[in-house]
Amino acid sequence: MNIQTKIKRLPRYTSYPTALEFKELSADKYISWLASLNSNEPVSLYIHIPHCSKLCWFCGCFMKVANKYDIVAKYVDALIQEIGLVAQHCSTQEVSHVHFGGGSPTILTPEDFEKIMNAIRANFAINDDAEIAVEIDPRTLSEEKVKAYARSGVNRVSIGIQDFDTKIQKAINRIQSEEIIRDSIDWLNNHGIKRINFDLIYGLPHQTLSSIKDTISQAARYKPDRISLFGYAHVPWVKKHMQMISTEDLPNAKSRLVMFKLASAILLSEGYKAIGLDHFALPNDELSNAKNKGTLKRNFQGYTTDNATSLIGLGISSIGSFIEGFAKNTSSFSNYYSKISAGELPIEHGLEVSATDLMRREIISDLMCFSKFNPRSVAMRYGLSENFSREQPALTKLIAEGILKKNKDTYSLTKKGSHYRRAVATIFDEYFPQDIDIVDRCILESAG
Ligand SMILES: C[S@@+](CC[C@H](N)C(=O)[O-])C[C@H]1O[C@@H](n2cnc3c(N)ncnc32)[C@H](O)[C@@H]1O
Ligand code: SF4
Repeated sequence: MNIQTKIKRLPRYTSYPTALEFKELSADKYISWLASLNSNEPVSLYIHIPHCSKLCWFCGCFMKVANKYDIVAKYVDALIQEIGLVAQHCSTQEVSHVHFGGGSPTILTPEDFEKIMNAIRANFAINDDAEIAVEIDPRTLSEEKVKAYARSGVNRVSIGIQDFDTKIQKAINRIQSEEIIRDSIDWLNNHGIKRINFDLIYGLPHQTLSSIKDTISQAARYKPDRISLFGYAHVPWVKKHMQMISTEDLPNAKSRLVMFKLASAILLSEGYKAIGLDHFALPNDELSNAKNKGTLKRNFQGYTTDNATSLIGLGISSIGSFIEGFAKNTSSFSNYYSKISAGELPIEHGLEVSATDLMRREIISDLMCFSKFNPRSVAMRYGLSENFSREQPALTKLIAEGILKKNKDTYSLTKKGSHYRRAVATIFDEYFPQDIDIVDRCILESAG
């Protein structure tokens, strides 16, 4: 069997079931979920700002280039209306986390950013100790924008660095000097925003062991609290602009693995702790504490300390997560605007989850966050009599391959196994084609 023709990439399990399983979902169903939120429990808000000033050829995010600011201003107006509409149906007002993602939230003028934050504060009550985070494209940041973030209570940012090397930056159509990064960090520090994450990517065109070593060492010199080291996901059949990156310039699966191992070793020697699949955090960062305390979670943004049980998605293509299931806004700009102007919620897709889904989600989350899982004890907690006989042959094979080890009913990843976390997770994924051999799935994971 040629595995490449059947399935090209393994899921990253930022959710289970994954977004691939979403079907049509009615706005009425979504409204019933909002209405049944526990009024004593805080929720999290995710706000999607889809626009960017320029297209990066490696980009896998839902984004659209805005050639003029009018396009962004129109979106801000619709988003503010959506915030009001959602709040009308919501049975809780308390908010513990706000995350601005994109696209590039930094494309917003300071005035528009504050307008959105004011709309949130007018409709919800943000807890005093809430985390308010913004994803930053340093090329579109300014000191005025940082001041607006500080005034609005932003206390965490994630800066898109990707790679410091100019040759690699050219190959991905994202030129940004180190000076821009230095300025961004100075402004953030000067205005009291000290919790910083760097986004870096391995597996980009022209990257070599030597270039990765330089980029990681350069990043570590700034000592950000967190570093995300994503493996480049090259999916030109989904994102046509990735065709601008020549496959020949991409490091192969073996080189990617060696790059990740080298980058991890540098970060560990610099005092960072490894968190799950692709995150690193300083020992005193909340992510490291959450890992030690067993409260670490994984959501659509990656690893998080957010332990609210529900997440409300706002903006085009955003996804919310509730006890009952997932709700995704439309990804069509025209549908988004027409629904909002008609006073309707722009929900289009989603999934109601079953008890079995929730049980499987917990097993996968334990694996993704803590590198170990005990399927029997999770099933018992859910009152399910699942004996996991279907999963047994693949688990046994991975023990023989030195990827998993077993102690009583608990499985844990070995050092070798830490590079095959997503492949192991597929064993418990009821929607993943189980006829693909588990060793082939491990090979797929190395490729991206
Ligand atoms: C929404 S962007 C971050 C904010 C801002 N737009 C920027 O690029 O600086 C989210 C992050 O996803 C990562 N990313 C985007 N496309 C990716 C891909 N194809 N493979 C791996 N990581 C990717 C990048 O590290 C990027 O910083
Ligand atoms: S990586 Fe960030 S800045 Fe670049 S196109 Fe994607 S969302 Fe926009």
